[in-house]
Amino acid sequence: MINKIKKIILKKNKSKIICLTSYSKNFASIIDKHSDIILVGDSLGSVLYNHNTTRKVTLNNMIEHSKSVRMGVNKSLMVVDMPFESYRNKIEALKNARKIIKATKCDAIKLEGGYKIKEIIKHLVKNKIFVMGHLGVLPQSISEKFKSKGKFKNERNKLIKDAKLLESLGVFSIVLECIHSNTAKIITNSIKIPTIGIGSSSNCDGQVLVTDDLIGLNETKIKFVKKFVNIRKVIEIGIKKYKSEVIRRKYPSKKYSY
Ligand code: KIV
Repeated sequence: MINKIKKIILKKNKSKIICLTSYSKNFASIIDKHSDIILVGDSLGSVLYNHNTTRKVTLNNMIEHSKSVRMGVNKSLMVVDMPFESYRNKIEALKNARKIIKATKCDAIKLEGGYKIKEIIKHLVKNKIFVMGHLGVLPQSISEKFKSKGKFKNERNKLIKDAKLLESLGVFSIVLECIHSNTAKIITNSIKIPTIGIGSSSNCDGQVLVTDDLIGLNETKIKFVKKFVNIRKVIEIGIKKYKSEVIRRKYPSKKYSY
């Protein structure tokens, strides 16, 4: 596992890091061939359960989906989001991180925040938990969504300070969510660990997207989401063919019967 982490860090300034979300085995087994990191994101709350906030995602939700994902991951680094209120203090954080890792055999966990959670991150790293940081828009902390961060001096300086702090605490990479391009560039150039951007321009060492968004399965209109394929159409074609063959008694033919 430590080799997988080292490999990710060594990619900085060499080649882009590909990170994608997965919430289940079948998706993970496809993504695994093309991704460096598979993230079981708490975005599953909105994507799968229709929650209007990731705050409603439970530890159990994360563990059950991650167990499924684990079965599809072979080579990628598997990171699991710690859900809201599962890391309110360092004791709780360590207990829950260990619970997630034990149940899912994931390689690392991700937490949202900078200075505010510094003692928690310090404690996790001290106890040999691999931690990915997350700065910028922090979905677990806000109600309004996807307003970019770091355009102005104060916010920019705070983000840079937080990124440097996370690096000094020992996180192995940091997700930068919806951070202004120039600030993302400054952060990426100021730290030795990789930054993984989402809505933070190409000035990051890697990129992450919610897979369901980029394939058009989850219908969303977020500015930074590009729909690379419309998988809903492909699924519909298959379903319509099935329906038509059942109605016309073409399926199941002898070939598909006992
Ligand atoms: O929950 C999630 O999927 C995430 C990524 C979008 C970074 O945190």
